[in-house]
Amino acid sequence: MSQAKHLIRIWDLPTRLFHWGLVLLVGLVFLSALLGALDIHEIAGEGVLALVLFRLAWGVHGSQTARFSDFLGGFAAIQKYLVHRESKSAGHNPLGGWMAVAMLAILLVQAITGLIANDGIFFQGPLAHRTSGIISDAATAVHHQLANLLATLIVIHVTAILLYFFVGKENLLMPMLSGKKLVTTSVNSIHFSSSISAAKILCVVILAIVILLAVL
Ligand code: HEM
Ligand code: HEM
Repeated sequence: MSQAKHLIRIWDLPTRLFHWGLVLLVGLVFLSALLGALDIHEIAGEGVLALVLFRLAWGVHGSQTARFSDFLGGFAAIQKYLVHRESKSAGHNPLGGWMAVAMLAILLVQAITGLIANDGIFFQGPLAHRTSGIISDAATAVHHQLANLLATLIVIHVTAILLYFFVGKENLLMPMLSGKKLVTTSVNSIHFSSSISAAKILCVVILAIVILLAVL
């Protein structure tokens, strides 16, 4: 017997703006690195840092589906999802959740190593002068390696979304655009936090980065 489907809101506006802002900035970060435009690279990379720090805070204080506690699960949760396609969250399934955390973690390390990296010639990150040359060079090496890993994860991420659509007949993209998803199961009402509190968190994060970079 086929169950009736209904459209519900699963992603809040801040999470969606975060995602598409991240896509834009990460695109700019890669493009500027490719072109050797390191001034733009630095600003875009610091923008990524602000977005990631915002997302970490939103993962604790934000809407239900944005919270790490809502979508991260252990081995049993992953197994349940793989075998029965059952997931406790209306947002990310357990695999998507860990993929999101992996990308956030790499972006965070990438931004921090970038701040102390150097290009060996003219350019160095704004905090490179606070470290020794050896540490700056080591950070640069990590920055290079992680850039490759990140690019690989992004390709896997987009391929997975396409596979869900064409093979699994599940449209994950539409919810990330409109916020709404067609679901068959009965989902209990989802708690949403206000976009104003998200804007406040983002302002605090940006201010903290600007002050730290000015003081250090
Ligand atoms: C979080 C986002 C970031 C990503 C994804 C990223 C990615 C990259 C990539 C792909 C490269 C080229 C690596 C290569 O040639 O193999 C690069 C180089 C570089 N990045 Fe970033 N970066 C980020 C943030 C930053 C930040 C915030 C800074 C601070 C200034 C920075 C400073 C540098 C420097 C100095 C280089 C040149 C290293 C060299 O030429 O040897 N990056 N980055
Ligand atoms: C620079 C490239 C990208 C990065 C770094 C990235 C990163 C992320 C992250 C961190 C999340 C988790 C969102 C959250 O919980 O806040 C996510 C989810 C998502 N991304 Fe991307 N993304 C990228 C490109 C794309 C593109 C091009 C698409 C379109 C095909 C896309 C579609 C999605 C969708 C549909 C989700 C939700 C997946 C789900 O329902 O579990 N992403 N992405």
